[in-house]
Amino acid sequence: MLVVAFNGSARKNGNTAMMIGYLFETLKQEGITTEMVQLSGEHPHGCIACYQCFKNKNGRCIVESDCINGCIEKMAAADAIVIASPTYIADISTETKALIDRAGMTSRANGDMFKRKLGAAIVTQRRAGGVHAFDSINHFFTISQMIVVGSSYWNIGFGREKGEVAEDSEGVATMRDLGRNMAWLLRKIHG
Ligand SMILES: Cc1cc2nc3c(=O)[nH]c(=O)nc-3n(C[C@H](O)[C@H](O)[C@H](O)COP(=O)(O)O)c2cc1C
Repeated sequence: MLVVAFNGSARKNGNTAMMIGYLFETLKQEGITTEMVQLSGEHPHGCIACYQCFKNKNGRCIVESDCINGCIEKMAAADAIVIASPTYIADISTETKALIDRAGMTSRANGDMFKRKLGAAIVTQRRAGGVHAFDSINHFFTISQMIVVGSSYWNIGFGREKGEVAEDSEGVATMRDLGRNMAWLLRKIHG
């Protein structure tokens, strides 16, 4: 069983990557394979609204010049998809938005490619706006016919400077509980 997490932060190996790391520690203890993809430095383009994905129906976005088709392939291969973003002005990062718009549209154009896979959103924030960012990612999962896995709180870690999220013990515990719930559900589905 494979869980792929996308880190939509503009900052590599920051708080958002650390939150994914706490989740992965638990998943690995449960015997589940994990992979993290960091979008930092990739500069993914936004959706260009050409609707070619509905004409081509080949499981790919027409824009081939960046990392998004590789991300879509990884999503299609995964049993669970985690999308993580820092909060930027009370919403998700540009990188995360490019990913969910293009993967979401390509999925819809191809009969909902991620249907019934598990999904979980993770957000980091300094102070406020994280719930809105969390909701934005969950809209991608729920329109894609995916199954959203919950935890003991909304999946939000607090911190500003790189590494500060380690001091948010409740945020870390939320990742551990999410990992246990995801592993439990994956075993129920896949045996
Ligand atoms: C452009 C920008 C906008 C931000 N907007 C918010 C915000 O609205 N609310 C908030 O609590 N933190 C905000 N932050 C802080 C980040 O969400 C926070 O530092 C987060 O931990 C960064 O995660 P990273 O280390 O993975 O990059 C903002 C940071 C940046 C760079």
